[in-house]
Amino acid sequence: MNKKVVKVSAPGKLMLFGEHSVVYGMPCIVTAVNQRMHVKIQKMKGDLIIINAPEVKINNFSISISDLGKIEYPKEVKFVLKSIEVYFNKYKVSSGLKITTHSEFSNLFGFGSSSAVTVCMINALSEIFNIEVSNKSLFDIAYKTVLSVQGVGSGFDLAVAVSGGTIYFIKGGKIIRPINVGRLPLIVGYTGIKADTATLVRRVSEDYKKNKKKIEEIFNSVTKIVNKSRSLLVLKDYVKLGELMNENQKLLYRLGVSIPKLDKLTKAATDAKAYGAKLSGAGGGDCMIALADKKDVRKVKKAISEAGGIVIPVKTGAEGVKIEK
Ligand code: MEV
Repeated sequence: MNKKVVKVSAPGKLMLFGEHSVVYGMPCIVTAVNQRMHVKIQKMKGDLIIINAPEVKINNFSISISDLGKIEYPKEVKFVLKSIEVYFNKYKVSSGLKITTHSEFSNLFGFGSSSAVTVCMINALSEIFNIEVSNKSLFDIAYKTVLSVQGVGSGFDLAVAVSGGTIYFIKGGKIIRPINVGRLPLIVGYTGIKADTATLVRRVSEDYKKNKKKIEEIFNSVTKIVNKSRSLLVLKDYVKLGELMNENQKLLYRLGVSIPKLDKLTKAATDAKAYGAKLSGAGGGDCMIALADKKDVRKVKKAISEAGGIVIPVKTGAEGVKIEK
């Protein structure tokens, strides 16, 4: 029987190691955070799709099914609408829908709100239409959706929104392997500056064309860090992991994606005895992360705040996409 109302949630993410090089087919490590995106979908008679998304100030936005794929979607709802368009075309299904989204985190943090909402949408639609979709297919459909909206991206954020936990990932879902890490003593500092991932990825790609040797050398060094950190995470060797975070940060700085505020917050964290710190994600703003011993956590948080960052409480290794009661 087709269900009439479905509620789904998926976690946000934090990149631990390997941003940017992952776009070029190299591995990265990403963890799911306990701040989640929620989507509620209700089947409706008629051919209207109605969306409420309070966090992005969308109130009863409506579009007729026959307009899907024909008009330019408003940016606040484009991942929701593209998910429906891709899903309806793939599975030859259709229905009026009422959709409500709710995010536990700001879309300014770079926690992957677009990816989380896309994964929620594909999972919720599969429940609504009673179509069995494996985790791999869920990832593939979500990746297709995201690529058709923003044109670039490795898909790491979608993979971890589906699986949860902490994963080792290669572009397009070529490899998705869980890493048995447990919870990491991670501190997150928001710069207060919104970064645009697609712009930064394109900028690195321009630079890659001009300075291939330099960028390849950076990416190869990042990849060594990713592979070393994979086993150190299992061993919980936070001292060495911290060193690798600092090295990764230096390489991201050389890549030109760090900004003074990120440099300032990471330095404040390491000066306050964090094992290591780095930007997390595309750079250009968003968040930085620091790894610290339990006894130093307070000091590191204070240092980040005093340097002008906003500390965001998160727990790592959160559960992947799930149906909510
Ligand atoms: C952005 O959070 C991480 C990047 O590696 C882009 C991507 O992997 O899609 C810069």
